[in-house]
Amino acid sequence: MAKRKIIIDCDPGHDDIMAILMALAHPEELELLGLTTVAGNNHMRQVTENLLRTLTYLGRTDIPVSMGSDTALVLDPEPQDAHGITGLDGFDFPEPAFTPVKERAVEFMKNCILGSEDKVTIIALAPLTNVALLVLACPEVKAKIEQIILMGGSVYRGNMLARSEFNIYADPHAAEAVMRSGVPVVIAPLEVCDDCLISEDDIKRWEQTKKPAAQLCAGLMNFFAGYGRKRGWTQFTVFDLTTIMYLLYPERFEGFRSSCHVVLDGKYTRGMTVIDEDGNGHVYTLMKADRKYLNERFLEAIDRLDEGYPV
Ligand code: RIB
Ligand code: CA
Repeated sequence: MAKRKIIIDCDPGHDDIMAILMALAHPEELELLGLTTVAGNNHMRQVTENLLRTLTYLGRTDIPVSMGSDTALVLDPEPQDAHGITGLDGFDFPEPAFTPVKERAVEFMKNCILGSEDKVTIIALAPLTNVALLVLACPEVKAKIEQIILMGGSVYRGNMLARSEFNIYADPHAAEAVMRSGVPVVIAPLEVCDDCLISEDDIKRWEQTKKPAAQLCAGLMNFFAGYGRKRGWTQFTVFDLTTIMYLLYPERFEGFRSSCHVVLDGKYTRGMTVIDEDGNGHVYTLMKADRKYLNERFLEAIDRLDEGYPV
C-alpha cells in the first residue's frame, strides 16, 4: 500500500505528543508532510514552542512546523490546566534548534495538499480553527483531502460540560464549519478514546528504559496521569493517540455512519456534538476499539523509535 500522506494539526499537549510519536514510528506507512499548531491546551505560541522543543529533542528538526490561529473563530481561548503551566509539563526539553516555516497554517496546509499527487489526510488533535479556516477559505483543497480524522466530541459524555468535549467546546463554530464542509470526517469522541490507554506498568517500563523516546513518554505520561491518579485510576486515556491508531488499524475499531452538528452556545450545551445515525452521512463516528491491541502497538512503537537512536 502506498504511504499515506498526513498533516497533523495539534496543540501539544501531552496526548498530542503521543500521537505524533506513533506517527513518527511508522515512516514506512505514513508520510508526515508537516505539523500545524493552534490555540487550545495553551496559547498558540506556547504550544508551538512545546512542539519545536519536542522535535528538537527527537532529532526531527527536518519536519516543517507552521503556526496557525492563536484564537478561536469567535470565542476566546481557554487554556487547560490539565497540561500544566507550559501546556507540556513533566519533561526537561532542550531549547528549540529550529523555527516554524514562514507560511501560516492555512497557507501551509493548502500548499501541501494542492502540491501532493495523492490525497492528504488531516489528523486534527485540537480545536478545529485551522481546519475550518482551510476548508472555508480554500474550498479547492476539499477534493484533495482524503479524510479528516479528529479527536473531539462525544456521544453521551463530556469533559468540559456534561455533554461537551474540550476540542469542540473551545471552538464550536469551527467544528460546525468542518462538519458542514462535505469532506469525509472520522470522529474519535471521548467514548472510543477510553479504549486507547496506558497503564502504571507502562509508565514504570518507560522509566526503566534509559532511551530517549521511553524517557519522554515516562516524563510526560507521569505528569498527564496525575489527574487520574487523584481519582484512583490506574489506566489513563491518551485521547489524541486514538486518531493515529485508527489511521493505522481501522479494522480494530467499531463505529457507525452518522451526521454531526455542533451546539454553538448555551450555559450547559456549548460545544455539544449532536451525532445522529445516518447511512448517508459523511461523518463516521468511532465508538469502540480493541484496547489490548492498541496498547501493545503503542508500546512496540516507542521501542521501535528507540531502536533508531544511538545507545
Ligand atoms: O478532550 C481531549 C482533547 O483536549 C485532547 O486533544 C487534549 O490534547 C486536549 O486538547
Ligand atoms: Ca490536543
